[in-house]
Amino acid sequence: MGECNIGAEKTCPHAAIILTGPALRRIIRSVKDSTVVHPPLTSAILRRSYRKTFPSAVRGEGVYLWDADGKRYLDFSGSAAVNLIGHGVAEIPAAMVDQARQLEFVHSSQFTTPVAEAYAQELLAFAGDNFRGGGVFFTCGGSEATETALKLVRQYQVEVGQTARYQVLSRTQSYHGATLGALAVSGNKRRREIYLPMVREFAHVGLPYCYRCAYGCKDCARQYAAEVERAIELARGEAAAFIFEPVSGATLGAAVPPEGYLEQVAEICQHHGVLMIADEVMTGMGRTGRNFAVEHWGVTPDILIAAKGLASGYAPLGAVIATKKVVDAIASGSGALLHGFTYNAHPIAMAAGRAVLAHVKRDKLVQAADSRGDGTTGADLGRALGRLRDLKSVGDVRGIGMLWGVEFVADKASKRTFSPELNFAGRVGQAAAKRGLMLYPMQGCVDGVSGDHLLIAPPAVITAKQIAWAVGQLSAAIEDASG
Ligand SMILES: Cc1ncc(COP(=O)(O)O)c(C=O)c1O
Repeated sequence: MGECNIGAEKTCPHAAIILTGPALRRIIRSVKDSTVVHPPLTSAILRRSYRKTFPSAVRGEGVYLWDADGKRYLDFSGSAAVNLIGHGVAEIPAAMVDQARQLEFVHSSQFTTPVAEAYAQELLAFAGDNFRGGGVFFTCGGSEATETALKLVRQYQVEVGQTARYQVLSRTQSYHGATLGALAVSGNKRRREIYLPMVREFAHVGLPYCYRCAYGCKDCARQYAAEVERAIELARGEAAAFIFEPVSGATLGAAVPPEGYLEQVAEICQHHGVLMIADEVMTGMGRTGRNFAVEHWGVTPDILIAAKGLASGYAPLGAVIATKKVVDAIASGSGALLHGFTYNAHPIAMAAGRAVLAHVKRDKLVQAADSRGDGTTGADLGRALGRLRDLKSVGDVRGIGMLWGVEFVADKASKRTFSPELNFAGRVGQAAAKRGLMLYPMQGCVDGVSGDHLLIAPPAVITAKQIAWAVGQLSAAIEDASG
């Protein structure tokens, strides 16, 4: 392979991007507020951060991870809300190995496979009656799934003769993926700001965030739903779809919508011929105590996107699950989906996803995750986390199932945030990691820049004793960071 020089305005012709020392150093220098770059560039990985060191993970079992020094961590965030079934479940790699021995890969333009066919049927059934007769497009993760859904809604509208419709409306403070199309419909300011000149933007509407509700929580379900209707009307017949996370994920930290909001949004979308895309990359596959989170509100989207929990991290996997209406429009229209990736429906990932789904069903993990159930793991988790509200720096604890957010404030009465430079959530994350507890710290929940929160999303196999230990350590880590 030759060398790629980022910054020389050349596109890289290689599958992997190799950065030369000078190019790498230029990128690092361009991180504006970086005063100290450490550790020295001993790693060949282009890292997510050059300001912190990453322990090297070597083993996982249940809710625990071990690093190369033998230190044990309780995975209280399921990595990034990925793992629902626990680490080291032997039957998953066994299924993957069986599949790899039999057939490792074929291209989906030439073959289908028994494992993909069986898995698609099982997933449609898992998604419920609304998806009977529909179709599944498998990807390698959430961002690819979002890209697929964006193109699918456009193609659907063209197939049904609505050629003017191409805009995908979305919500502020949302995240739908890292690719440019997904960033265009995301509202996560930090993750997209510098790329904005490169993306085509459509309207963003507000989303319910009860702790800091723009409408003072008075009739807010209707008010926020009305924002969707206004945006559709302003699009003047060009709105193709509305994309949303049923429970806000990383950006807001598990903000659960008020009753009536999604139901009204669904009615509005249907009335205006706008497709609904429920991005359940984080919330799907049991994470919130339902197969898919939209079920909490009886909402039936046209398209569901799933990823993280699909294979629980055992393989890179995402899926776009479309209703019969969407599939039929293409099948009986042009007859060809104008989209594809080399690795869609990769047989080894299919085997992993199938085995994970069987495991989730057999061990009743969706029921375990249900925080509204009696004596469930989800209920234990919600109760234990609720105790954090007594801490001086904790403003809000919110969430559902096995997906919870803890928002920090410098002053409880006024809800004043910590200064973003303080990186309070990051400090809590570091203090917790020292104590052997892994969390998912984030910033920007208030306006994209200020506001600190944590995402808590452990595997549903966590025990009450482990929850109690984790919350004790988290509480101590918050005190450490406050000190
Ligand atoms: C709701 C949501 N959509 C999409 C994505 C992107 O998924 P991936 O990181 O697998 O590309 C994420 C990732 O965190 C997510 O939370």
